[in-house]
Amino acid sequence: MNSELLDLAVVIPVFNERGNVATMVARIDAALKGRRWEAIFVDDDSADGTADAVREIARVDNRIRVIQRIGRRGLSSACIEGMCATAAPHVAVIDGDGQHDETLLPDMLDAFAEDTRLDVVIGSRFVDGGGTGEWDHDRVAKSALATRLSRRVLEADLNDPMSGFFMIRADVVRRLAPNLSGIGFKILLDIMTAAPKPLHFKELPYVFRVRTEGESKLDHVVAMEYLIALYDRAFGRIVPVRFAMFSAIGGMGVAVHMAILSALYVGLGASFVAGQIAATLGALTFNFFLNNALTYRDRRLKGPKRLFLGWLSFAVVCGVGLIANVGIATYLHEVQDSYWALSAIAGILVGAVWNFALSSRFTWGR
Ligand code: GDD
Ligand code: MN
Repeated sequence: MNSELLDLAVVIPVFNERGNVATMVARIDAALKGRRWEAIFVDDDSADGTADAVREIARVDNRIRVIQRIGRRGLSSACIEGMCATAAPHVAVIDGDGQHDETLLPDMLDAFAEDTRLDVVIGSRFVDGGGTGEWDHDRVAKSALATRLSRRVLEADLNDPMSGFFMIRADVVRRLAPNLSGIGFKILLDIMTAAPKPLHFKELPYVFRVRTEGESKLDHVVAMEYLIALYDRAFGRIVPVRFAMFSAIGGMGVAVHMAILSALYVGLGASFVAGQIAATLGALTFNFFLNNALTYRDRRLKGPKRLFLGWLSFAVVCGVGLIANVGIATYLHEVQDSYWALSAIAGILVGAVWNFALSSRFTWGR
C-alpha cells in the first residue's frame, strides 16, 4: 500500500438520471469496499435535477463529486472532462443507469496491479462469460454492425470496442485527451484509435443489464454521430468532419433550391427572378437549420432571437460567399481562360470554404 489517498476515480456520465443516482452510489460503494475511490458524476445540466441529486449525497459523502456542464451535450466529451478532473492514478468510466456491472471494478483495478504494462482494462460483452442480456433482435443486429464497422478503423484485436465501460491509467488518458474527438458515444473506440502506439489492454467479461429507471439517450442523432466519429478517424485529417457535413448539407441545399425554383417558375408560372429569390431564401433557411441541428449540434442556437440573428448572419456570410464564388469562377473562365466546369468548381470550393470559415466564426462562434 502506498500513501496516496486515491486508487481510483469512477467517472459517471449522466443525463436525466436523477432516479438512478442514489442506487449508483450505493452499488459503487458496495463494490469498492476497502478501496480508495472517488466518484465524479458529469452532468450536462439535466432538466430533471440530476446534478442536485448528486450534490445532496455529496454534502454528506466527500468521495462524491459533480461536474455540471452548462450549454454542453455529449457522452464522450462528458467522460473526457470527468477523466481529466481527478488526481487518482486510475479512472473508470461507467454508465449512470446501472446497466454496467460495477462489481467488475475491483477486478479491473487488480488487473493493473498484476500486469503493470496494462494501459486499459475493458468491460466486454463479447468475450466468454459476457453478454448483452435482454437485448432485442434489432439492437443486437445494430450493435454487431457498429462493432464490425469500428474494427475497420481499429487496429487492435478487441472484441467490444463499443463498450462504454472500462478503466484506464489516468496519465494515459490525459496524454491522449487533446487528440480525442469527443463526438458521440464511442469514447473507448476514440481512445483506442487516438493512441500513436497501440495501447496494452485486457478484456474482462460482464453482462449488460436491463435499464430499470429513465430512458436511453442513444437515438438516431447519436448513431449518426457514430458514423461521423468513424469518418473523423478515417479521413478527418484530410477533410475535417464539420466541413464535410457543412458541404454535404450545402449540396442538399442545391436540391432544395432547384425544387423550389421549379415549383414556382415551371409549376406556378412565377417570374424567374421571383422564383430565384424564393429558392435562395428557402435553401438558405434549410441550410441554416440543418447546420444548426447537425453540424453545430454542440453549439446549437436556441430561442427565436438567437435563431433569427444567427439566420441573418448566415445570410450575410453566404451572400458574400456567393459573390466570391461567382467572381472567382468568372475571373478564371473569362480572364484566365480556364475550362468552364473547372472554373465553376473552383468558385464553388472557394465559396464553400468562405461560408464555412465565416459562419463557424460569426454564426456559431463562441
Ligand atoms: N453527461 C452526459 N451527456 N451523459 C450522457 C449523455 C450526454 O449527452 N448521453 C448519455 N449520457 C449518459 C446516460 O445518462 C447514461 O448514464 C450513460 O451516459 C449511457 O447512456 P444511455 O443512453 O443509457 O446509453 P445506452 O445504454 O443506450 O448505450 C450504452 O451501451 C452502448 C453499447 O451498446 C452505453 O454504455 C454506450 O457507451 C455503449 O456504447
Ligand atoms: Mn443505458
